[in-house]
Amino acid sequence: MGRYDWAMKVNGKLTRSVWREPDGRAVGVIDQTLLPHRFGTLRLATVDDAARAIATMQVRGAPLIGAVAAYGLCLALRADASDENLERAYATLLATRPTAINLKWALDEVMAVVRNIPRERRVAAAYRRADEICDEDVAINLAIGRNGLKLIDDIARKKQNGAPVNVLTHCNAGWLATVDWGTATAPIYLAHDAGIKLRVYVDETRPRNQGALTAWELGQHGVPHTYIADNTGGHLMQHGLVDMVIVGTDRVTAQGDVCNKIGTYLKALAAKDNGVPFYVALPSPTIDFSVTDGVAETPIEERGADEIETVTGRAADGRLETVRVAPDGTSAANYSFDVTPARLVSGLITERGVLAASRAALAKAFPERAAAK
Ligand code: MRU
Repeated sequence: MGRYDWAMKVNGKLTRSVWREPDGRAVGVIDQTLLPHRFGTLRLATVDDAARAIATMQVRGAPLIGAVAAYGLCLALRADASDENLERAYATLLATRPTAINLKWALDEVMAVVRNIPRERRVAAAYRRADEICDEDVAINLAIGRNGLKLIDDIARKKQNGAPVNVLTHCNAGWLATVDWGTATAPIYLAHDAGIKLRVYVDETRPRNQGALTAWELGQHGVPHTYIADNTGGHLMQHGLVDMVIVGTDRVTAQGDVCNKIGTYLKALAAKDNGVPFYVALPSPTIDFSVTDGVAETPIEERGADEIETVTGRAADGRLETVRVAPDGTSAANYSFDVTPARLVSGLITERGVLAASRAALAKAFPERAAAK
């Protein structure tokens, strides 16, 4: 395998976020609820295991959710390759998380290859497509990385005295959220590998602190970074400490509106006010050509209040512990995503180039997807 087919390392060992176990059937994933404090893996052997891992966010991030759901259908077919079971598994997996469109995209991809073939051929066909979805994700992210690298390089060339390029990112759109490389992080990893000096500001991303995953990833790869509380970005931008923002996304509409982790919109507003370019990195399966107005039409996941009212971290004795931060009896709302209108987006970093966030640019770059909506 070439150097860039498989890129990210954990403690020096090449690691993807999802893989087939040695028996070729069960699926291995990293339990992301343990990170950054502990590295642990899970074995998913049934469709219910896969659905649970997605719903509880042991696996998360739009492209990884899609990949694990695709394997979930494989696991369901192994148990029972009937039409009825296929439809049931599809519905179970689709219901796990509502916002990331990659989930439906990946399920539909597997459905398309198994629906009209005899039952005895379904399992092999499903695994083949799920494997391809994973490999395609890696190739797409590498292409995103190469396209985004040019943006970082342009800024680096204007810097005086070897000063670093300062990048701000939100949530985790890193390799943990994809199969490898990440989307927002792929340009960062390539720039770092190319010797460009970087400083990545990593939003903590309450309530689930996915920024800690990003900080862990960057640390594993040796990329200099600074972990910041969510509300720090505006202040940094006002003081010229951010050269560009790069975030990921869970769904981009036909007109280029961007749905991403809650708090992304506020970063985009601050970036606009301070003349900081705001880029969104996305693989084409994240584009939903069937919706136009992101604010009006994107389903926004609302998760349990407990995620707001508590914080989980590592206690002094090494145990993971959840402690309450909100007063007893308070009421909390946990909106997980928000929508950044296309007008606030400087560019969409895709596998086919850096595009304007507009209907025309998206349809021109991905005509086959636009036509198939
Ligand atoms: O709730 P999560 O952790 O699944 O949300 C993840 C994000 O919002 C990511 O930015 C997005 O999925 C892009 S991942 C390449």
